[in-house]
Amino acid sequence: MDSRDDMLAALAWQMELGADEAIGDAFIDRTVAPVVPAPKPASSATPLALQPTQGATDAIAATCTDLDALREAIAAHGHPLKSGARHCVFADGNPAARVMIVGEAPGRNEDIEGKPFVGKGGQLLDRMLAAIGLARHAEDPAKAVYITNIIPWRPAQNRTPSAEESSVFLPFVRRHIDLIDPALIVLMGNTPTKALLDTTTGIMRMRGMWAEVTTPGGTRPCLPMLHPAYLLRQPMDKHKAWADLLTLKSRIEDIR
Ligand code: URA
Repeated sequence: MDSRDDMLAALAWQMELGADEAIGDAFIDRTVAPVVPAPKPASSATPLALQPTQGATDAIAATCTDLDALREAIAAHGHPLKSGARHCVFADGNPAARVMIVGEAPGRNEDIEGKPFVGKGGQLLDRMLAAIGLARHAEDPAKAVYITNIIPWRPAQNRTPSAEESSVFLPFVRRHIDLIDPALIVLMGNTPTKALLDTTTGIMRMRGMWAEVTTPGGTRPCLPMLHPAYLLRQPMDKHKAWADLLTLKSRIEDIR
């Protein structure tokens, strides 16, 4: 393949197959037969072969006594999504915050920066929070938020994670909640609402109504809200998000 047209046609074909970005610095010529490495001894099996069972994940999460230990345990978990992602997206914001936001999963920008909610949806989220006096990096815990996701690795092509994928990471998310010990939790969109409230009811019916998230460490009030990415697609529904923000604001005033 030499001509520019051939190369452009090959690129278009790859994009049609869903390869929407380059993930490696070096070019890999897949038209050449790969050199097959010699099998490794069993003791050096790849991390992906080490995906623990759900019970083991529960036990690993329970042993994490601080955020660094939890971050390391999540990064070491051999989930298949890890192989398609650049960064383990753990959290952002003030760990002393009284409000903890749980989102779905990193998108492209979050995968690149290694932080949750930094793309267009994240910018809208910051504006929504600012409208009720909250900011992710505020020093005052009463004005700060702490943000994480159910899934720490970007699903390819930003697809919605499956319920099974969410359930794999739930022990880590519950431990994360217990370590932060927020007074209030915001569930951003369908994925965290369904996973943490163990419901099949969609966000359009759950939003704006206080519910409770139960973890090994206790039960805390939570407010399901519309995801900012949804609001970017459906700006007509922003008034619903505004109503939910006011609901959150008034509960924050009660706990201050
Ligand atoms: N959407 C999410 O739910 N989380 C992110 O971190 C980014 C987009």
